[in-house]
Amino acid sequence: MALVYHKPLTGIDPDTVSLESLVGRRVLVVGSGGREHAIVDALSRSGSVGKIYCAPGNAGIAAQAECVPIRETDIQALVTFASQNSIDLTVVGPEVPLSMGIADAFTAAGLRIFGPSAAAARIESSKDFAKRLMAKYDVPTAAYRTFDSYDEALEYVRAGKFPVVLKYDGLAAGKGVVIPENLQEAEEALRDMLLDDRFGKGKVVIEEFLTGPEFSFMCFVDGLKVYPLALSQDHKRAFDGDKGPNTGGMGAYSPLPFISREDEDYAMEHIMKKVAAGMVSEGCPFKGVLYGGLMKTPDGIKVIEFNCRFGDPETEVVLPRLETDIYLMFSAVADSDSSMPPVRWADNVVLGFVMASKGYPGSYEKGFEISGLEDAMSDPAVRIYQMGTKLAEVEGRESPVLVTSGGRVLMVVAAAPTALEARDKALTAVGKIRCANLFNRTDIGHWIF
Ligand code: AMP
Ligand code: GLY
Repeated sequence: MALVYHKPLTGIDPDTVSLESLVGRRVLVVGSGGREHAIVDALSRSGSVGKIYCAPGNAGIAAQAECVPIRETDIQALVTFASQNSIDLTVVGPEVPLSMGIADAFTAAGLRIFGPSAAAARIESSKDFAKRLMAKYDVPTAAYRTFDSYDEALEYVRAGKFPVVLKYDGLAAGKGVVIPENLQEAEEALRDMLLDDRFGKGKVVIEEFLTGPEFSFMCFVDGLKVYPLALSQDHKRAFDGDKGPNTGGMGAYSPLPFISREDEDYAMEHIMKKVAAGMVSEGCPFKGVLYGGLMKTPDGIKVIEFNCRFGDPETEVVLPRLETDIYLMFSAVADSDSSMPPVRWADNVVLGFVMASKGYPGSYEKGFEISGLEDAMSDPAVRIYQMGTKLAEVEGRESPVLVTSGGRVLMVVAAAPTALEARDKALTAVGKIRCANLFNRTDIGHWIF
């Protein structure tokens, strides 16, 4: 039932079809979520690609790629798999293997990989590294200080104003940011991060609170070369009205009407290119997708965070609009050559809703049956990227059943000429999916409606 072939939402631009297509390249995608499903989906539209593997993948990805049961953090096993299976290119989705050095290990083994080195991945894995880099290279961002002492951090917060932004200085799956409204909330969060080591032993970055719409600017970067992808906007809070705790992201859409060409040029010149050049100067050139989490504040565009990888769920609304052969784009970055094809986007809107397990981003139960996907996808404008699913044997049932296996479970997207139509189509599809333990926001795109 989960094995539904996803029809392309856009065609491939014939200008970018190359000699690669005669060869049928073998690609390995590392990861197991909706982002990797969207990458696999984009690769499956590439005329250059003959075979796609995904490690470890998920039940949805299995319809478009051969899933191999290797964990994304088992770098040695991934190197061995790529060598033994003549993989032409490996594309890494998640930040954890990148910050563990997967790109360094592949490069050392003579294998082509799309993703930054561990040193470059610090732009995401250490908030303190990112902030220092921005300060040194004059990239606009919120004022900040870094602390490792609970008492000093609390003293600093006590002397400042609320709300204030507290960020754990390490990877925390999108959950390491707390925005306390008062001293008591700040005390609790600092205790969590610095005394109880909830995310591990680390420091805390304390930032000025900025206001304005946020947006995601992902660029393919190869040292000094920076190639923009289409803009998108995520919705980080768990509930409608941007209420509730921060999550990894509850829905997204692309493109963005509220970011002008001038804004985009500013972000390119003063943020993305400066950071790329700064990383070259620091001896850790970036190679892969650099994700700028930006905010359009009353004082101009500023950086909220950087990620060293594709955003999730942004990738699920950006890549369906890509008309260029993504394999050729990955190759241009991986090989550091100048053959980046012209990057073209469909002139439509893609908007999507995350369906998450009740309780997420806190604790939640798994193993609930999901049905109705085929019905939801009967509209050819709809695509469902599986984020946290698996096939499970259930007593009394002939074939395996699709069940929830993560916090974020499905990303349901729709393409349409306008954002409102895309929203309505996606929401209709969401309404057809049956599962006893999922919830979703209903107001994705509210900034523009
Ligand atoms: P981050 O993981 O750094 O992207 O932070 C998660 C979310 O917290 C962001 O998407 C923002 O919504 C919010 N946030 C982070 N930093 C700030 C800030 N300096 N001012 C206002 N909101 C922020
Ligand atoms: N959606 C935000 C992220 O990927 O970090």
